[in-house]
Amino acid sequence: MVKKCPVVVLISGNGSNLQALIDQSVGSNYVVTGVISNNGDAYGLQRAAQAGIPAVVINHREYPDRESFDRALMARIDGMEIGLVVLAGFMRILSREFVNHYQGRILNIHPSLLPKYPGTNTHQRVLDAGDSLHGVSVHFVTEDLDGGPVIAHSTVPVRSGDTAASLQARVHEKEHVLYPRVVVLYAAGRLHMRNGAAWLDGQRLGPGGLEVADTVG
Ligand code: GRF
Repeated sequence: MVKKCPVVVLISGNGSNLQALIDQSVGSNYVVTGVISNNGDAYGLQRAAQAGIPAVVINHREYPDRESFDRALMARIDGMEIGLVVLAGFMRILSREFVNHYQGRILNIHPSLLPKYPGTNTHQRVLDAGDSLHGVSVHFVTEDLDGGPVIAHSTVPVRSGDTAASLQARVHEKEHVLYPRVVVLYAAGRLHMRNGAAWLDGQRLGPGGLEVADTVG
């Protein structure tokens, strides 16, 4: 049997993407081997427990600065079996040392069509700008916040009457489809980061990455 890619997921809150990754790992080529949260109240910790996945809390408030927290995080991750680090609603800016240590082996999901709207409050910003298209991006993590090479987009049309909450709900549905699909590609050894770009099957992906369609309108 081919070995499954061990995936460590970092969370801070609800963990619905963690749940999607756990659910879709069944019969897949990856396995979630550990969960780390910087927040002891994160609901995602209960999701991990229910799935029988080891989970730990490393509270950033117990460290004097970002670098020391990140080093503790790195030590914990490296003590686990990892093939890939997946950020899933992990609400911390990561230090250069951390990001470089996992370069090409760390992914993030962001609720906008990057490079549009890095940072927070993306749904309201899309509405304020009058955009007709919104969506989600999965990207390799680099030092540039929400600025690493995009692997895939999945789009959500903006409807009249949409609010930030309604958009967020539809974007979330897309996230839960997109993230596991990208992890499967990575686990199959088909996805790499090289020369500041994302590559699939030896082909350099364009600025928007793959366009992944699914059934969510
Ligand atoms: C998602 O919207 C994701 O795009 C962003 O943080 C949110 C996490 O949601 N990075 P959840 O904790 O997975 O439910």
